[in-house]
Amino acid sequence: MKLLIPGASGLLGLNLAMEAMREHEVIGVDRGKLKSAPFQVFNTNILNRAAINSILDSAKPDWLINCAALANLEECEESPELATILNVDLPAQLANACAERGIRFMHISTDAVFDGEKDDAYTEEDTPNPLGVYSQTKLEGEQATFSENPDAIVARVNMFGWSLSNRRSLGEFFVNNLSEGKNVNGFTDVIFCPMLVNVTARLLLEMLARNLRGLYHVVGAQAMNKYQFGVEMARTFGLRESLISPKSVEGSGLTVKRSHNLWLSTHKLSTDVGHEIPTFSTGLAEFYTQFQQGYPQKIRSYQQ
Ligand SMILES: NC(=O)c1ccc[n+]([C@@H]2O[C@H](COP(=O)([O-])OP(=O)(O)OC[C@H]3O[C@@H](n4cnc5c(N)ncnc54)[C@H](OP(=O)(O)O)[C@@H]3O)[C@@H](O)[C@H]2O)c1
Repeated sequence: MKLLIPGASGLLGLNLAMEAMREHEVIGVDRGKLKSAPFQVFNTNILNRAAINSILDSAKPDWLINCAALANLEECEESPELATILNVDLPAQLANACAERGIRFMHISTDAVFDGEKDDAYTEEDTPNPLGVYSQTKLEGEQATFSENPDAIVARVNMFGWSLSNRRSLGEFFVNNLSEGKNVNGFTDVIFCPMLVNVTARLLLEMLARNLRGLYHVVGAQAMNKYQFGVEMARTFGLRESLISPKSVEGSGLTVKRSHNLWLSTHKLSTDVGHEIPTFSTGLAEFYTQFQQGYPQKIRSYQQ
């Protein structure tokens, strides 16, 4: 298959491109951060509709996987117009352009569309109730995607992994700070389902291969709080877990309201891909192996 990936410099976009190029032809779309990536990259403004349409017409991909977004919660609150352009208008436009050309479309959304009031795991059937600009615009992006392209896949994700900037994911946050002997907080009252980004990427590729459509929760099968996640990181990397203080997210100084429960059910996903979702410890072991084998440095060497 030929895959077009806008947002190829991001945590997901880059790792997805790296996973996909093993078996597929990959074309990334980037606004100038990537150099010497091991896959083809179009240096194009993603918001230039004519340029994107011309790439679709010339490259003729089988799938477009939209990994571009304004994914920083604070930036979304500060720039709600930009958040709407990137998180709502862009997926709507891409979904429409793909539908017109018979190109399959996958859009990436977030686990943060729910308010966290449920005491159990959220399923795809549960009604979202976003708490801020980021989650509101991501939900509107899901709706716009399906309204323009009913055959699309929308995947709600939560990932950790190695990124171009070395500071995009919570995994990097704990490893970097603990390696430098710094004290950090780990929130005990935020439950989430982290998945190694490379595992996410491989599942997304399986979903394409199976020609799925509709809304899916593509997160880790194990729910944990962010403190526990930090402790697991410390133990795996041989770092001092005593540097992590268990704290509440309330009063942490984070200004944007966050859900306390980001526990999503992966039942629909595991049923439709036909196997269990890889465990958290499998992903964590791979994250450590990547570290030992120099994968973070390799990723960062693709930067301008
Ligand atoms: N990380 C997580 O755990 C997580 C959790 C829930 C949902 N998600 C969702 O997963 C998807 C991927 O997230 P991520 O963590 O990979 O995000 P990321 O690392 O911030 O990557 C976002 C991508 O979008 C591009 N982008 C942002 N603003 C742009 C602009 N104005 N023009 C052109 N490109 C722009 C970025 O390009 P530059 O590199 O040039 O800025 C980057 O390639 C997003 O839809 C996000 O909402 C992520």
